[in-house]
Amino acid sequence: MNNQKKKELIKKHISEKPKLVKGLPSLDIKGIANYIKNGNAKKILILSGAGISVSSGIPDFRSPNTGLYNNIQKYNLSKPELLFTRFYFNLNQKPFFDTIKIFLEKDYKPSPAHYLPVLFNKKGILLKCYTQNIDNLYKKAGLNEDYLIEFHGTIKNSTCRKCNKKYLTEEIKNDILNNLIPKCTICNGIIQPDIVLYDDDLPEKMFEELDYNFQNCDLLIVMGTSLKVEPFPGMIEDPKDNVPRILINNEIVGSYEEELEERNGKLIEISKERLSKKFKFGHFFNTRDVFVGGDLQNNVIELVKELGWEDEFNNLIDNNNK
Ligand code: OAD
Ligand code: ZN
Repeated sequence: MNNQKKKELIKKHISEKPKLVKGLPSLDIKGIANYIKNGNAKKILILSGAGISVSSGIPDFRSPNTGLYNNIQKYNLSKPELLFTRFYFNLNQKPFFDTIKIFLEKDYKPSPAHYLPVLFNKKGILLKCYTQNIDNLYKKAGLNEDYLIEFHGTIKNSTCRKCNKKYLTEEIKNDILNNLIPKCTICNGIIQPDIVLYDDDLPEKMFEELDYNFQNCDLLIVMGTSLKVEPFPGMIEDPKDNVPRILINNEIVGSYEEELEERNGKLIEISKERLSKKFKFGHFFNTRDVFVGGDLQNNVIELVKELGWEDEFNNLIDNNNK
């Protein structure tokens, strides 16, 4: 082959958009629905955050104006996350209890997004649902606990920090709502809802299956999270390269562009490998990442409609609410 021909071939090669991954006809909700309908997704992983509970009435953390972290200037913290650290909790429990009150004020109802993994599980195509949420709403939606990992713990149960006696948060709810620090009936220690604080170790059990699940999943659905708190941002990078990933969220997060921006001028520090694993929405070489913006509940409903599972989905919700 002469040089001219070689050059032409190379040029053609690099200017040709790579094909989408097998089974994914387009980078939108329809494409993902087709991928599932055609039997390509049998091991779906869901990663979710506070955004999925906003329509249930619980604010998220970081949305400007409405997020819980908007309301804590009064504590004069250098950054809002301090409120959820063990270090700060040991110094002063009041801001913690004040902030989590909202989770106990009402009997919140699950949103359509909480029912999505329940539906997938019924269809036998859910591998696992990982959530950062502590609000117990997946369980209220009837998701089988074997399929749920609550990474940041749960508001449902509580433990005495001194003698480890277990409580149901229901038992100490009135104290918390009345601005009292709940105390253990045995040892008078402080009882804390089982929310994982920033410098607590995450339980080993959570990591046990993680590698296996991410290596074996065939679809990743990420929703309602800003991907600001590890280990979730790293987790989106773990599925194999031929696995479609869909982000259903108000804003784009976890993208290669965000990473470029964050490390502006220090590009050298990121290995190509790591950068290449971030979401590639809009990128010339994107073969599998779908971003669906706007209200996530509408988009979840849209996905279910595209799947043709709307009636089953609605029945599932109605039966659970009976
Ligand atoms: P964030 O509040 O950081 O992010 C919520 C995301 O959901 C944002 O990207 C919003 O734009 C999006 N969102 C909110 N409502 C939405 C809607 N109706 N439709 C579409 N998108 C919507 O919440 P997390 O990422 O879950 O830690 O936060 C992670 C952790 O930070 C929390 O688990 C918490 C906090 O510190 C603990 O509780 C220990
Ligand atoms: Zn105790």
